[in-house]
Amino acid sequence: MLLDVRNVSKIYGTSCDQCLSLTGVEHDRAICPECGSVVAVNSISLSARKNEILGIVGESGSGKSTLLQLIYQDIRASSGEIFFQGVTDKNGQPSNILHEPPSAVSRLRSKEMSMIYQNPRLGLNFLFSAGGNIAERIIGAGERRYDEIRSNALDYIRRIEMETSRIDDYPEEFSGGQQQRIQIAKALSSSPQLLLLDEPTTGLDVSVQAKILDLIKELQQDMGFSMIIVSHDLGVINHLTDITVVMKHGTLVEYGLTDQILEDPQHPYTQLLVSSIL
Ligand SMILES: Nc1ncnc2c1ncn2[C@@H]1O[C@H](COP(=O)(O)OP(=O)(O)OP(=O)(O)O)[C@@H](O)[C@H]1O
Ligand SMILES: [Mg+2]
Ligand SMILES: [Zn+2]
Repeated sequence: MLLDVRNVSKIYGTSCDQCLSLTGVEHDRAICPECGSVVAVNSISLSARKNEILGIVGESGSGKSTLLQLIYQDIRASSGEIFFQGVTDKNGQPSNILHEPPSAVSRLRSKEMSMIYQNPRLGLNFLFSAGGNIAERIIGAGERRYDEIRSNALDYIRRIEMETSRIDDYPEEFSGGQQQRIQIAKALSSSPQLLLLDEPTTGLDVSVQAKILDLIKELQQDMGFSMIIVSHDLGVINHLTDITVVMKHGTLVEYGLTDQILEDPQHPYTQLLVSSIL
């Protein structure tokens, strides 16, 4: 197993001992009636193997972005455990990354896991050129030789099918679709094992979306990383993923093979989602 998320929760607010048990899809709410806290993610467990592609769907506010941020360690979980391949204690046993020292977490974030955000301003440094952004990540992953950094950055510019002559241009000189391509180049330039994508194409033209999603799929097949992609669009989930996770009110309402879920959704909420695209 590459990633193992066990019973992870994130509560925004003061929180009380009833928050988790009084919220979720079965209570049809994410706000605790006792203390008013928002239970953004409620006791979620999921795992990803090497090479596997997971998709997360669910209505706005269901906790999809929060779940990705918890995995990427952008935010700290209120409770639960997260295991990542290779992160072990001194006896070689899997170690909960929530209890690892900052240096271990920082290594995971700068090398093994990458995040691609819907908003390129969160994923790119707009004060650095395209090449500078990619170089920053290559250096963060441990490379120090200038020639290697430069040639790797050029290689990733090529991989996202962009003219290498644009390597010294700044993010604001690129279109929205190109900015997402540069985010992809940057994210992949550390050769991560897990790529996290939070609605990477929402807001782009449909034709641009399709090209970027095809590019992501191609790169995944070439490089063989695992992926968790959040999308509103069941078409994207169908096209890209092996496993689907359906969330509502912070809880997981359905989790399984994408083909099975789209063909024979079990939960009424998933049935509604699926019927809306037929
Ligand atoms: N920093 C925060 N402080 C307080 N509440 C937050 C914070 N971040 C998220 N929330 C709340 O957590 C819940 C889940 O938010 P999240 O952004 O994860 O939803 P989402 O499924 O990604 O929605 P969308 O599809 O609109 O992006 C929401 O009710 C949101 O208001
Ligand atoms: Mg979101
Ligand atoms: Zn509460």
